[in-house]
Amino acid sequence: MTVLVTGGAGYIGSHTVVELLNAGHETIIVDDLSNAKLDVIDRIETITGKRPAFYQFDAADKERLRDVFANHKIDAAIHFAAFKAVGESVRKPLQYYRNNIDSALTLLEVMEEFGCKKLVFSSSATVYGPNNPHPYKEEMPAIQSSSPYGWTKVMIERILTDYVTAHPDFCAILLRYFNPIGAHESGLLGDDPNGIPNNLMPYICRVAAGQLEKLTIFGGDYPTPDGTCQRDYLHVVDLAVGHLKALEYAENHNGVEAINLGTGNGISVLELVTAFEKANNIKLPYVIGPRRDGDLPAFWADAEKARNLLGWEASHSVKDMCRSSWLFAKGGTPESSFS
Ligand code: NAD
Ligand code: WQD
Repeated sequence: MTVLVTGGAGYIGSHTVVELLNAGHETIIVDDLSNAKLDVIDRIETITGKRPAFYQFDAADKERLRDVFANHKIDAAIHFAAFKAVGESVRKPLQYYRNNIDSALTLLEVMEEFGCKKLVFSSSATVYGPNNPHPYKEEMPAIQSSSPYGWTKVMIERILTDYVTAHPDFCAILLRYFNPIGAHESGLLGDDPNGIPNNLMPYICRVAAGQLEKLTIFGGDYPTPDGTCQRDYLHVVDLAVGHLKALEYAENHNGVEAINLGTGNGISVLELVTAFEKANNIKLPYVIGPRRDGDLPAFWADAEKARNLLGWEASHSVKDMCRSSWLFAKGGTPESSFS
């Protein structure tokens, strides 16, 4: 297949491009590098021995997107391109609605012009909102979120659902990711946010590297076994493989399907901190601080649908996630670190 990957230079996109190339698919990346670095393309080539086609522009630029579709016979698209920082989206809602919604609409319009009918969309567990009990199941109402970022996912899911109603020969797979962490085993690709990280694992890595003094665990008085929040952390390579499975499914099906990609297990912040310390033989300074606004005490995926429909399940352990995250963060190689 020839697959367009918007946002393919980013954290999840780059890992997915590696899996696509390794599986023999032709891959075309469109990324404006608003949250990625150009050398990711070289790194993908180093890992796979193949260089993906790369275009640097905003996916909402219709003329340039048309050119890409005119120059390549694209069979399917995976739409990762989006802004994703929850807190920033609260401060800059227009920027988030403009970027995330515009790029999705433009892609869909150009796909329609060129008769491309297979789309995999990066959605998020955030669409389950604050009111569903966990584990989250796909048939639960996914119509509410707690940030402008989250609302863009709810809205794009709606747009795609309405589009499929009008075009029943189209296939849209809405992949609802839980908490991706970890990095490629080569140590060449991983999560490298600009500035001070918001997400837990990049923050842990900066503390481990001595770039930040200590981790503040947001809340130790939640109604969970150890008082800290529980999440469903999954390895980014498992998540990337989930996209290949979704594409395979989309090749032979029409309609819209929302599918959770998670492990089905919740672990707590403290458990992750302890696992990181053990996996990497590092002591991590931390304090328990106040709760962070908007955090839910606990949620994880019901992972049955992905297993039944896609034949996908997560296979990497928490230890793998912790070791690979640290390997990437310190810029090492597997040989130098863990032999
Ligand atoms: P990321 O920021 O690393 O990757 C997104 C990529 O899209 C970046 O390379 C950025 O430069 C690019 N981009 C942004 N807007 C663009 C535009 N208009 N045109 C072209 N390129 C653009 O983020 P990620 O963690 O890899 O997330 C990928 C997708 O998965 C996003 O849609 C995100 O919302 C979603 N998601 C992420 C998580 C997570 O925890 N990382 C969880 C659930 C869903
Ligand atoms: C995980 C846990 C924090 C940082 C977010 C988005 C969600 C999705 C994934 C895109 C929480 C705790 C964190 C720190 C901490 N993204 N924590 N100290 O909030 O579950 O989900 O990323 O769709 O939409 O909301 O992930 O990594 O920020 O936090 O104690 O310095 O770690 O309280 O319990 P979250 P996270």
